[in-house]
Amino acid sequence: MLQPAEQVTAMAIISIAGHLLALILAVAVPASAGGLPVRLRLYMHDITGGPGQTAVQVVNGTGPLHPAMPPGSHFGDTMVVDDLLTDVDDSKPVGRAQGSYTLACLRAPVFVVSITLVLTDGPYKGSTILIAGRDDISEEVRELAVVGGTGKLRRATGHVLWTTARRESPVHMVLELDVVPEHRRQLVAAVALILAVAAAVAPLGEARRQAVRLRVYMHDIVGGAGQTSVVVVKGPGPANPSMSPGNNFGDTVIIDDVVTEGPSLASREVGRAQGTYMLASMARPVFIVDITVVLTDGPYNGSTILIAGRDDTSEEVRELAVVGGSGMLRRASGHVLWRTAKVESKLHAVLELDVHASVPAAAVAPSGSGSHGHPFLVTSASE
Ligand SMILES: *[C@@H]1O[C@H](CO)[C@@H](O)[C@H](O)[C@H]1NC(C)=O
Ligand SMILES: *[C@@H]1O[C@H](CO)[C@@H](O)[C@H](O)[C@H]1NC(C)=O
Repeated sequence: MLQPAEQVTAMAIISIAGHLLALILAVAVPASAGGLPVRLRLYMHDITGGPGQTAVQVVNGTGPLHPAMPPGSHFGDTMVVDDLLTDVDDSKPVGRAQGSYTLACLRAPVFVVSITLVLTDGPYKGSTILIAGRDDISEEVRELAVVGGTGKLRRATGHVLWTTARRESPVHMVLELDVVPEHRRQLVAAVALILAVAAAVAPLGEARRQAVRLRVYMHDIVGGAGQTSVVVVKGPGPANPSMSPGNNFGDTVIIDDVVTEGPSLASREVGRAQGTYMLASMARPVFIVDITVVLTDGPYNGSTILIAGRDDTSEEVRELAVVGGSGMLRRASGHVLWRTAKVESKLHAVLELDVHASVPAAAVAPSGSGSHGHPFLVTSASE
């Protein structure tokens, strides 16, 4: 759990601890105070047209007309934004929200968001915070994940409560972002505490996280009946020599893939995988994946897990990263072993996602964990 640099720091601190406990405590206070999370309430102004426009549609979705969105909206529609952020009173500018959102759900009005907030005022002036996740606008309050940051927010995790505050005009939406960043850096304070109570160092790290193990199957259906993924950008090339003709560097696909508990599409649906993958190698069959999996069944029902990384389809098992989560999976981190489980047809591939993650132990324990009702939960007995 500890980064090498932190381990070194910890060892150095421990080695001088006998003499300098008081000094360490003195150091620990400013170190942790500097890392103390400050909750931020911001307003984000998304202006999609007219004067002061800050958001433009860069991709016209190639999927079906969306049943739950205003006329003309298509699955796959993607906006790029440079939205103004204002402070808690919505009175003065404090930064910009830059990134994209994509209509990545076939049925519900759900956007998959990936933005960086750059703060130009307030306690985090000069820092950035990275936010990703699922914005289901049919819900009053949505939870997205803090997946990183820079400057004073370096290595931030946490969550964002995301609400539509008001609609100023048909093209000007105001969102309220209640940003709750947390720092991974709790080590200095913890070491001081451990020295103070003369406890063992061993449980540090692991003891504070709880394992999350899931094995689920994702159905990527690129055409025909039950299609769940569409090519929204046809890469201008060159053709990728490692793949069949028609696959070009830059091809970008938006997905709303069904996630089931077993490899068969007929098995129980337990979620959806929403986001993108992109053919991002010129020579090899490699996709860069960026998805949010929303779980709709089982003990993590309603929670999401964010997965990103490199899918080299020429390898039997690929490893991607768990970069965040929401709900009971808030602040999840870990990895996913990703495998093509079955090729049902030229249009339907089944991927196995073997999730090895953990969440801070303080997070709510899943209800009924260890029960027999949810075979996709991997218990230690079945490993
Ligand atoms: C999307 O479609 C509209 C209307 O047909 C068109 O004006 C616009 O240029 C298209 N945008 C892109 C990015 O292709
Ligand atoms: C999952 O949660 C939703 C929303 O709370 C609920 O409607 C649904 O019945 C739940 N599904 C299961 C299988 O528990």
